[in-house]
Amino acid sequence: MTSTTTSVLSSTAAESDRPGSEWWRTAVIYQIYPRSFADASGDGIGDLRGITSRLDDLVSLGVDAVWLSPFYRSPQHDAGYDVADYRDVDPLFGTLADFDEMLAQAHARGIRVIVDLVPNHSSDQHEWFQAALAAEPGSPERARYMFRDGKGENGELPPNNWESVFGGPAWTRTTDPDGTPGQWYLHLFDVSQPDFDWSNPEVQEEFRSILRFWLDRGVDGFRVDVAHGLVKTDGLPDHLPSVDADSMGGGEEDVPYWGQDGVHEIYRDWNRVLAEYDGDRALCAEAWLPTVDKTALWVRPDEMHQAFNFPYLMTEWNAPAIRTVIAESLRAFPAVGAPATWVLSNHDVVRHASRLALTAENPQGHGIGPDSPGQPIPEVGLRRARAATTVMLALPGSAYLYQGEELGLPEVIQLPDDVRQDPTWFRTNRERYGRDGCRVPIPWTSDAPAYGFSPSGESWLPQPAEWADLARSSQEDDPESTLWLYRTLLATRRAHGLGSGRLEWLDGYGDDVLAFRVHADDGEVTVIANAGQAPVTLPAGTVLVASERFEGGELPVDTAVWLSTR
Ligand code: NOJ
Repeated sequence: MTSTTTSVLSSTAAESDRPGSEWWRTAVIYQIYPRSFADASGDGIGDLRGITSRLDDLVSLGVDAVWLSPFYRSPQHDAGYDVADYRDVDPLFGTLADFDEMLAQAHARGIRVIVDLVPNHSSDQHEWFQAALAAEPGSPERARYMFRDGKGENGELPPNNWESVFGGPAWTRTTDPDGTPGQWYLHLFDVSQPDFDWSNPEVQEEFRSILRFWLDRGVDGFRVDVAHGLVKTDGLPDHLPSVDADSMGGGEEDVPYWGQDGVHEIYRDWNRVLAEYDGDRALCAEAWLPTVDKTALWVRPDEMHQAFNFPYLMTEWNAPAIRTVIAESLRAFPAVGAPATWVLSNHDVVRHASRLALTAENPQGHGIGPDSPGQPIPEVGLRRARAATTVMLALPGSAYLYQGEELGLPEVIQLPDDVRQDPTWFRTNRERYGRDGCRVPIPWTSDAPAYGFSPSGESWLPQPAEWADLARSSQEDDPESTLWLYRTLLATRRAHGLGSGRLEWLDGYGDDVLAFRVHADDGEVTVIANAGQAPVTLPAGTVLVASERFEGGELPVDTAVWLSTR
């Protein structure tokens, strides 16, 4: 099956025999959220054949790789992050044969494929959890998960005070076969997502085998879900002060289930598994940690290869703050031999074309809806998003894009309450809107049913009427469109080899301006981004790409430009 990696990629693989030149160090990786990307079957939910049919569009965009969010068998209580069978494709998305075909077609086009691995928890419908429920307390079946007796006289209180990331308690009590209340089990996320016990060798062996299953099929790597959460502090102590479940670990304080030391041993083990395979397979950590320095612990030489730079994603449109996080990233990741990574959007956060213009605080995962405070002005958001992406794609390292950002899609704020599906919405009694607004199926063709997302016109979340103008077909021939901006940035980044460049800060532009030069093997690019309130005088040079059209030598507010200054 590995033969699906055709000659298009093997030349790259040969080059990467040189240490430090592995593809993932500089790659631009496009996140596909399968249920919202392209629907070939017509049921209103995107699928693998839909992805295959759109690969040429990703080639013309100019990305190096894709990461697919989960498509495994799942009851879909958390959009597939509740996995019932790690070795099969959910019929919603197709079959294993569809996956193999998609992978072969992607490889034939020179696009690498990373899949999502969800090791912190399974679905409650996984056969192991069903067996655990049917088994006695203390049994080997229960030992694969985190079952505990409750506190209180009759075990009626949860074992500790931990809260679910999606709101509400992180413990649910089971019912014994005779109908009496039984033990409790831990679920850091939804009640349908029981946490595994990673101190159990059987769990460890199972995941080694799952890694091999997908590596044998030819995948280029894994994005590892909740990579900071697998190991819990011994004895499961209360979290004091009581947990702020707002984020997946973004706070400063020590939390007994985020970032525990023991978790690193798991990734050292996985690193060895990947090293058995050719072609520089990669692990990327989804680890929400408050600082770049903490995040870098996940990418030490014998652990993972990349970690998402969430401190960068969480930074507002504020030049000093962006400068700081870029500088810290370019220090902390290379210090452990890893590339810096960059990301502005994904399926868990408000899309950056809206987020960068929010005027009220909005913690990760809360989402925005019609009555959220600090509503963004769409034009301001899009302008800033285009500028922010223009900065990001010049930076040395590897960058992640989220499907639809190349069209300038905003968060869908006006979703009707009765279509929302994020467990966060239900577990907080509709207090937090959650993440549905960034997951609406993307528009391909302005005048087709469901904007070309699905041949039947079905769409699992409704698409706003304004998206006709944002559809890819509407932007295809418009040099001022966001699609063209992304294409031009990606082509220029590739032509100059910016991903492996070196960044030099430029002085003299004032605090509100980001100014730096990237020196790369194939050229150098000067980047100026104006996050202030007044136009900025540009240095002499040729404009290679600009986030907005402008006249003369003054860079307008909320605009970024790449210049050739030689
Ligand atoms: C992080 C994933 O990105 C998110 O979508 C999911 O809900 C949680 N992990 C739980 O798996």
